[in-house]
Amino acid sequence: MSRRILNVVINGERHELLIEPHWTLLQVLRGQIGMMGTKENCLEAECGVCTVLLEGKAVNSCILLAGQVEGRAITTIEGLGDPEHLHPLQAAFIEHGAVQCGYCIPGMILSAKSFLDENPGRQPTRQEIREALAGTLCRCTGYGKIVDAVAAAAQRMAGKEPTP
Ligand code: FES
Ligand code: FES
Repeated sequence: MSRRILNVVINGERHELLIEPHWTLLQVLRGQIGMMGTKENCLEAECGVCTVLLEGKAVNSCILLAGQVEGRAITTIEGLGDPEHLHPLQAAFIEHGAVQCGYCIPGMILSAKSFLDENPGRQPTRQEIREALAGTLCRCTGYGKIVDAVAAAAQRMAGKEPTP
């Protein structure tokens, strides 16, 4: 198969990449750009560790062909914050002890961001948070601390609790 050019914006930066038509977005992010924060596991939309934001909406990058994101904007976990300026979700996950091995956490945080951005200023219930994160599996935790962290971040993002 012949390669093609893909134009895509990743974390605010334009990229022009030479790709094979059958490559997934996950393959491009990890293999071509070297953004290893997006994890790979099941490769069949079951576990959610490969979640990224496509125009702000959470998607499984393992089942999305790279060609489908032509001209569009992708956000990966690398685009969310940095150690000096953590996103409120990243800060809350640390504060609430929600991170163990960490493998699912990029997907969890990006799924949570997509959900909270759809509902700005509203405090979601724990059940709503659980439903929003249902597509991302964590082998380490009982999910309680993850839900605590997302609830705290929602409060902070709504301006009801100061960012430390
Ligand atoms: S690796 Fe994409 S959903 Fe599991
Ligand atoms: S923290 Fe280990 S899989 Fe979720």
